[in-house]
Order: sequence, then C-alpha cells, then structure tokens
Amino acid sequence: MADFSKLADPGSPEELLVRRIDRERVPRHVAIIMDGNGRWAKARSMPRVEGHRAGVAAVRDTVEASAQLGLEVLTLYAFSVENWKRPRFEIWTLMNLLKEYVRKERRNLVNNDIRFNVLGRWRELDPLVVREIEQTLEETAHCKGMHFNVALNYSGRCEIVDACRRIVADWAAGKRADIDEETLGRYLYTSGQPDPDLLIRTSGELRVSNFLLWQIAYAEIWVTQTLWPDFRRKDLIEAVLAFQSRERRYGGVLQPESPGMELFSSSRS
Ligand code: IPE
Ligand code: IPE
Ligand code: MG
Repeated sequence: MADFSKLADPGSPEELLVRRIDRERVPRHVAIIMDGNGRWAKARSMPRVEGHRAGVAAVRDTVEASAQLGLEVLTLYAFSVENWKRPRFEIWTLMNLLKEYVRKERRNLVNNDIRFNVLGRWRELDPLVVREIEQTLEETAHCKGMHFNVALNYSGRCEIVDACRRIVADWAAGKRADIDEETLGRYLYTSGQPDPDLLIRTSGELRVSNFLLWQIAYAEIWVTQTLWPDFRRKDLIEAVLAFQSRERRYGGVLQPESPGMELFSSSRS
C-alpha cells in the first residue's frame, strides 16, 4: 500500500486532502492531457511559448506527486501528431524544452526509481531530441517504481495503425497471433501496462484530442478549468478524490434489482 508521508507537508492544505484518500483505491494509471499553456501566457500578455516554459514546473510536481501517490503508471500528453500544424517557433521551443527536461530530469528519475517511457512516433523527432530520450530510457531501464510515459509525436489513431502494421509484419515473419483485444493491446505503445483508470484534462476543454483512444475505453474522465502551468499536486489529489467517488460499472449493474435476480445474471463479466 502507498505511503503518503512525502506527498504533503504537515499542516499544509494538501495534507487535509491527502487524509481523505482511500489508500486501497488509488488509480493504477493516470493519464493527463496537459492543456492551456497558450491561454495561460495570453492572460499575462506573454508569448505562447512562455506558457510552455511555465508548464515544466507543473510536470515536475505532477511526476513527483504521482510517484508518491503510488501510481503504477503516469502518462502525460506532451506533443501530438496534429501539433505540427503550429508555428515553427512554437514547435522549436517545445522541442528544446523537451530536450532540456529529459536531460535535466534523468538523475531525478533514477533517484526516485521512476522508469521513463515514450509513446508515439518519437524516433521521427530531431536527432538531438531522440538522443536525449534514448539516454534517459537507457538510464532508467532498471527502475522498478512508477512507469512515466510521455506521449510525443503521438496520435491514438496512429498508435492503432502502427499496432496493425506490426501484427502484419509478425505474421509475414511466421509469428501468428489471433486478432483479438488481448493481441492488439500487446502491440500498442502501452504494451504490458494497465489501461488508464483516470483521464485528466486541464483548461476546461471537453474532448480527447486523439489521446489513448483504445486504452481509455473505460477511464473515468475529470476536467478542470485550471490551466496546465497552474496545475499542482493539490489538483492531482482532487482528481483522485473525485475518481474515488465514482461508481465504475463497466456496462454492468452493481446491485441486482431485487433479491434472487442474480440467479438470472449472465456468467460473463
Ligand atoms: C498544451 O497547451 C501544450 C501542447 C499542446 C503542447 P496549448 O499550447 O494547447 O495551450 P492552449 O490550448 O492554446 O491554451
Ligand atoms: C492536446 O492539446 C495535445 C497535447 C496536450 C499535447 P491540443 O491543444 O493540441 O488539443 P486541441 O487542438 O485543443 O484539440
Ligand atoms: Mg490546447
């Protein structure tokens, strides 16, 4: 069971929230669509890229708090395949911030036993970014704690296409697997990881923007008006508390309508 002692300072407002968390029902996987950097900057009459720069502090606090919460997997959506439509300078800044983050956080991740992982067509990125990512993957490969996925040059549809292509390539090489949900899941970028239990989106937008389309089939969705640069562990804990108040039914019913009705319920679940 998770040890929350490092999650909040004694006497802090966060500590009051932490006390309300049910330690036995912490989500295994939390996925976050980090949104609102541009609006954060605009509200301060700053260029959009300043919002991305300010967003790095939110990433740091969220990663640290997620590990302290005892999550098995945290996935952050950092750059979508569709984000290439943005102005060149914005893309260049995002790639530089990413490169710096991956380089500077390496040691911190290792110290916290966090295993880094990247989802998406990230090998198509600038070779300098690819090199920093590879180095961090290598140095955290032995870590046994939380898996930290960053979705980069990511698209949920591309992920499913890539999975199908790899299945077909394996077939051609004589490695045949049945086409079923279990097989497809194994060929996704998130192979071996549990599906997200909780999907968070910041900045109030009510859409999934091509994120983890397969994996969020039964994720609980929590949207906050907070813009990503302002997001901190307090928001993450609030999302977890909201998650714990939900009733997950997976298409079924929790209580039979009347005593004895369970005799008629299907054995499939
Ligand atoms: C999210 O913030 C960061 C990325 C998509 C890389 P945005 O840049 O989308 O911010 P808004 O939505 O324009 O405010
Ligand atoms: C989603 O945010 C992508 C990332 C957070 C990386 P966007 O800002 O790109 O999404 P839309 O355009 O509002 O759907
Ligand atoms: Mg946006």
